[in-house]
Amino acid sequence: MGDDDLLAAARAAAADAYAPYSGFAVGAAVRTRSGRIHPGANMENASYGLSLCAEAAALARAVAENDFQVVEIAVVGGKRGEGGTLVPGDPVTPCGRCRQLLKEAADVAGADIRVISANADLSKVLETTVSELLPHAFGPDHLTDG
Ligand code: THU
Repeated sequence: MGDDDLLAAARAAAADAYAPYSGFAVGAAVRTRSGRIHPGANMENASYGLSLCAEAAALARAVAENDFQVVEIAVVGGKRGEGGTLVPGDPVTPCGRCRQLLKEAADVAGADIRVISANADLSKVLETTVSELLPHAFGPDHLTDG
């Protein structure tokens, strides 16, 4: 099975994205240590800067399920074309803010998180990790004494 189920969950979530402004639909799915998968999609807003990314939605869902030991995340997306089909472009990598959210999740889990990025039809896949995406990250350790 490998990453197929996680990628499929992220791809399915992208179909539900609320992205009327950018037309760019993203789905994410986190797999936790329990083996459960939590999907999420981007949710935009007329006040553009308030838009929420798919990764944030998926992470929040895991928290809401009290299942926040994240092992890996898949991110899939693309521009909506004619008929709503997503145009296969490049793999969708997490934005800077989401990298920071994933860094916190990695610290909570006590291990690095695999990040599997794909384009809309899964024809291009890029595998990386949070520590590769956000080196020298600021995190909870900085807030402790000493
Ligand atoms: N977006 C995500 O949801 N995740 C990413 O990794 C990249 C960008 C969303 C935010 C916005 O709704 C749209 O994609 C265009 O930036």
